[in-house]
Amino acid sequence: NQFDLVIHNGYVVTASDILPPSVYIGLKDGVIDQISARPLTGKRVIDAEGGYVMPGGVDSHVHLSQKNTPAGDTIESGTRSATPGGTTTVIPFAVQASKDDFDVVSVVEDYHKVADGQAYCDYGFHLIVSNPNEEMLSEQLPQLVEKEGITSVKVYTTYPRYKLSDEQLLDILLSNRKMGVTTMIHAENSDIIDFIGKKLEEKKMIDPYYHSVSRPLVAEDEATYRVISLSKMIDVPILIVHMSSETALSTVREAQTSLVPIFAETCPQYLFLTADYLKHDCHHHVHKNDSFQGAKYICSPPLRQTVKELEGVWKAIQNGTVTVFSSDHAPTVYDHPLGKKAGLVNGVPHYKKVPNGLPGIETRMPLLFCKGVESGRITPQKFVELCCSNPAKMYGLGDRKGSISVGMDADLVIWYPKGKLQPFSLDNSMLHHGIDYSPFEGMEFSNWPRYTILRGNVVWDRDNGGLIASKGVGKYLKRGKSSLGGPIKELDEILA
Ligand code: URP
Ligand code: ZN
Ligand code: ZN
Ligand code: ZN
Repeated sequence: NQFDLVIHNGYVVTASDILPPSVYIGLKDGVIDQISARPLTGKRVIDAEGGYVMPGGVDSHVHLSQKNTPAGDTIESGTRSATPGGTTTVIPFAVQASKDDFDVVSVVEDYHKVADGQAYCDYGFHLIVSNPNEEMLSEQLPQLVEKEGITSVKVYTTYPRYKLSDEQLLDILLSNRKMGVTTMIHAENSDIIDFIGKKLEEKKMIDPYYHSVSRPLVAEDEATYRVISLSKMIDVPILIVHMSSETALSTVREAQTSLVPIFAETCPQYLFLTADYLKHDCHHHVHKNDSFQGAKYICSPPLRQTVKELEGVWKAIQNGTVTVFSSDHAPTVYDHPLGKKAGLVNGVPHYKKVPNGLPGIETRMPLLFCKGVESGRITPQKFVELCCSNPAKMYGLGDRKGSISVGMDADLVIWYPKGKLQPFSLDNSMLHHGIDYSPFEGMEFSNWPRYTILRGNVVWDRDNGGLIASKGVGKYLKRGKSSLGGPIKELDEILA
């Protein structure tokens, strides 16, 4: 019984266990066929040399080929940057970009056309909903769930073009409850942000830094409390995306303690970067000679002011409040008239004109691995839970992705044994995205994915050929329903 590929001599990590290096993993026909204590033979054998062997990463929050982001990453350039960072599955968004985009079925069709044959890793789609009208909720969404396996939607409480009223949120929450669709919510109080924005404008405080001033912690705290309340009203699970506030996270924790199905996501930028990156007078070497470079760090929610706040997010990772660790890869090219530089009009900077979002698909797992696992802040199992297993379960991929177990897709990442890789400082030229910078440039990395395997094929071999796969190897994933949480009670009679 010859396997296509055998991996041995690595510590095999799942969300619950670490198996010893004596274990052999046999891959066949794209799936994990055997996990054995007895030596297995294969057409190819990889010796992990005592490094960790983990499931391929699932990055469940990335923005690729979005029609409203002209200078961003495409499905091609974004997924090209996935496997070198250990990610084998991504879930970008199909976007109902305007309130007049009535037919979300054709919206999704358009995204399929753009993505077909372009991906370097497997992918699904979430749907961003900006107009939850009756027809969409009762006819189009059910069709997308059934035919396309699109079992999750993202909605906003902010951004003029996307924000929904509380009543609209209740409408979609109820509809999602009935269909078993997962709701991702961007929670920031829009009126607070507009109010402060006007004051800043009057005072000509419009440098990139003021983006962070205009979106204070309380905006996230209030909206988080509110959307949790709305979720309780309907008794339906929600996932609050890209959380950055310790207070908001403790509100989530309180809800979780009373067994309300509230899930939280956070991202690398809220663990590693503070708002001083937005200032041109800070002393990072990456900022020399260009006072507008703070725009590279504009994202929403914004980078927070203090390291104490970052520590609060770490705490929420360690104590289990955070369910999913994703990148929110939402980049635009810095030096491009439709990219970050759109915020520089005739030499005058304005934070409101800067597209929001940071690149981070490729650095997501290496950052958390080096600064979380290798530095001893989290266990390898916790890492796998956050980066692989929970996002797979959350978004209906738990039958295929996110773990190392027989019958699952053979998506694996093999890290260097600790100490084997000479620590290095990140430079953007090492990354594979289509963006001209990384917010994590200059940070030191002690490890990196050595091999990434997608459905049994080595697609990334850092020491021998780098990115080996060609575009088109990534397949579309029709997803099932979330296996993480559901309603607590029968649907209230009034809502039925
Ligand atoms: O700043 C961000 N995160 N932009 C992307 C859009 C979003 O809100 O996720
Ligand atoms: Zn968002
Ligand atoms: Zn700086
Ligand atoms: Zn996002």
